[in-house]
Amino acid sequence: IRKFVTSTSTMSVAMKNITVIGGGLMGSGIAQVAAQTGHNVVLVDISEDLLNKSQNNIHKSLERVAKKKYPTSPEDSQKFISETLSQLTLNTKVEDAVKTSDLVIEAIVENLDTKQKLFYNLDMCAPEKTIFASNTSSLPISEIAFSTQRKDRFGGLHFFNPVPVMKLLEVIRIPETSDETYNKLIAFGKQMGKQTVTCKDTPGFIVNRLLLPYMSEAIRMMERGDASCRDIDIAMKLGTGYPMGPFELADYVGLDTTKFIFDGWYERYPEMTQFKTPDLLSKLVSEGKFGQKTGEGFYVYEKK
Ligand code: 3HC
Repeated sequence: IRKFVTSTSTMSVAMKNITVIGGGLMGSGIAQVAAQTGHNVVLVDISEDLLNKSQNNIHKSLERVAKKKYPTSPEDSQKFISETLSQLTLNTKVEDAVKTSDLVIEAIVENLDTKQKLFYNLDMCAPEKTIFASNTSSLPISEIAFSTQRKDRFGGLHFFNPVPVMKLLEVIRIPETSDETYNKLIAFGKQMGKQTVTCKDTPGFIVNRLLLPYMSEAIRMMERGDASCRDIDIAMKLGTGYPMGPFELADYVGLDTTKFIFDGWYERYPEMTQFKTPDLLSKLVSEGKFGQKTGEGFYVYEKK
């Protein structure tokens, strides 16, 4: 009995201190949900300016969550927001931010070299016990982990945008990931309130492997003039119950990000024609039309 009690309490304490690297859309969302679910979170980015922007975004998102959680009590809402924010600290120095970290989640730019350099440095300054995870949406976890000496304590944690709303977390094992690490990643996902699914280290894991070819088929359908993007979106929403059609979703995720994933995959796997970047996507990106964030993608958005 003693052993059981000890191992359970170590489990919950084991992943209490979380470091999130990268304060963009995904990193902020991950940091927010980790703080909301009782973890001590350090969010890291290269400048204070960027971190302040992340904190503002987290604050706005927390207001939406609080409104839903406590619809009739502004006091409880405020308490929830301030308690969550008190679990979160900001830091521009990775070396300091990982000192007591149990888990580091990387959510920086989708560039293999940059990620490898980051993890190489982290491997030098993080304690032995610290588990490393990448939130990459398209790069092989094995190649990111290659720069470290702790492949047994390495895995993928792939979240979905918007992180506070989307219930899914893909947990990726590489061949070297130990059972202990894997179990801790799964337990962490549950603590975050997510439904976890497990996938091998294959391109796009489960969701993006199916989502990207679906988006590209939709774009090609429009390019052929078979149907308009509006009608394709309506069809997929009302015909299959998706909350957004493929064009709305591409605009929401970002056409630059979407193109980046296609380009990377097609370069690596030229035999996979379903990974070929659709021409219209490249054209829109070359015109600076990245979707909702720039005010125009497949659709035009009114400035808020
Ligand atoms: N933070 C907190 N709450 C948020 C939020 C955020 N950033 N964004 C939306 N919400 C909440 C709203 O407050 C609202 O709450 P309510 O139900 O209490 O009113 C609820 O979510 C619904 O939001 P809205 O009313 O503004 O709008 P919608 O009903 O259209 O929902 C959506 C928005 C949740 C984004 C929904 O359209 C959706 O689920 N879209 C699909 C998203 C998706 O597929 N994401 C995955 C993309 S792929 C990916 O991320 C992988 C990467 O590797 C590319």
